[in-house]
Amino acid sequence: GALGVVVGGVGLSRTGFPWPDRPATLRPPADGSVALTEPAVMRSQGGLLRVELVAAPRETTIAGRPARVLTYNGTVPGQTWRARPGDRIEVLLRNELDMPTNLHTHGLLVSPRDNGDNPFINVDPGQTFEYRFDLPEDHPTGVFWYHPHRHGTVADQVFGGLYGALIVEGDEVPVSRERVLIVSDITLDRDGAIAPVSAPKVMMGREGDLVLVNGQVRPELTARPGERERWRVVNACTSRYLRLALPGQRLALLGIDGGHEPVAREVEQVLLAPGNRADLLVTTRSGTSELRSLGYDRGGMGMMMGGGDLSGPTTLATMVVSGDQAAAPGPVPERPADPDLRDRPLSDRREIAFTITMGGRMMGRGRRGSMVDLGFDGRAFDADRVDQQVAAGSVEEWTITNPTPMDHPFHLHVWPMQLVEDNGEPVSEPVWRDVINVPANGRVRTLVDFTHHPGRSVYHCHILDHEDAGMMAVIDTR
Ligand code: C2O
Ligand code: CU
Ligand code: CU
Repeated sequence: GALGVVVGGVGLSRTGFPWPDRPATLRPPADGSVALTEPAVMRSQGGLLRVELVAAPRETTIAGRPARVLTYNGTVPGQTWRARPGDRIEVLLRNELDMPTNLHTHGLLVSPRDNGDNPFINVDPGQTFEYRFDLPEDHPTGVFWYHPHRHGTVADQVFGGLYGALIVEGDEVPVSRERVLIVSDITLDRDGAIAPVSAPKVMMGREGDLVLVNGQVRPELTARPGERERWRVVNACTSRYLRLALPGQRLALLGIDGGHEPVAREVEQVLLAPGNRADLLVTTRSGTSELRSLGYDRGGMGMMMGGGDLSGPTTLATMVVSGDQAAAPGPVPERPADPDLRDRPLSDRREIAFTITMGGRMMGRGRRGSMVDLGFDGRAFDADRVDQQVAAGSVEEWTITNPTPMDHPFHLHVWPMQLVEDNGEPVSEPVWRDVINVPANGRVRTLVDFTHHPGRSVYHCHILDHEDAGMMAVIDTR
């Protein structure tokens, strides 16, 4: 398809804030005509998933144009890893970037004392690091993902193209096809380089001008009517919220993150904050449908921006359903419910708040020389400070409050959470979650299971620009 190039000096944001450094960028083509492709699959064999992973800049093609992006093993997204509970995972990571990196397996319940979940590891340019860790035998099945987690560079590296899906198998459903759909966004300049991001946009959380599905702009999916497909969707966007809808087709939700709906629940739309994943069933009907992200108002820094910010509506892909009616698929088996943490005794309660500090005083200078400090409970991330000390083996109630004027997705590593109250609304059947959106000026109540994996890890905002700016904290359990 034809690709429009918008050329301009000073652009205006939706809120009228001028971006003096905003470069001319590639815009999505008017219509999609490429067939959806999927990342290559690496599958565990004999209980071992072994991956050699090279992080390197590379020239590839996005929307028919050359693009100089960051890749795992040369592709965006990286390969899809498939493993089963009880498997060992070994990853030999080679850093061919010009900056430090590391690797995080998002959502996996693995020991932070090994290196499977370790945001503190540093892999310098030119270095190789070997990750080895085990999935517990009772690890939840579901959709997980991997991405870099080197504090200060995470947003740049994920925005640049470093991410891949990780499926923990073992809860098969009769379907005619399974697809992995990794949604991400990126901004490229006219020469195909990753466009620099202005400071206010970093403050808000950057959103790319191009929204990609498996590295493609508006790819096309085809199917026959009457089929049932399983879609594993990852929101790998740095900051963009996705409110997914597929009008004309029937959507049912099997789960979000590592959680399991006992019975697939029919839905009209699914909200995925950055970092969230969805396990979906699509039952097809004849016709052409668009996979869309409806807009989502994630709030904004009114004092700086003159208004709220929006993850704008956009078409992600086109689905063409035609041909003979497929044979009716077998029934979807009922699945075991996730254990209910409300049945377990509570050891402790704590309250954690997302905070934005204006340098102590309005527009003064912050502790790190910035005008604005992002953090939790008034403090920016410090890898050497323990912010929460938790007794291993316990279940705790964590209330996460958000007194700021914008939404923040709360992500906790290693220890699974259940959302039990969402901005005042009780949740009837809590399931395992690892990213929970906390609305602007709102609060959520969660239960956290610290039964397994003592050690040190982090919780943070999954708007990755916020995490890099300090909205992250250290938790130690022993
Ligand atoms: Cu998806 Cu701490 O990260
Ligand atoms: Cu994570
Ligand atoms: Cu945030």
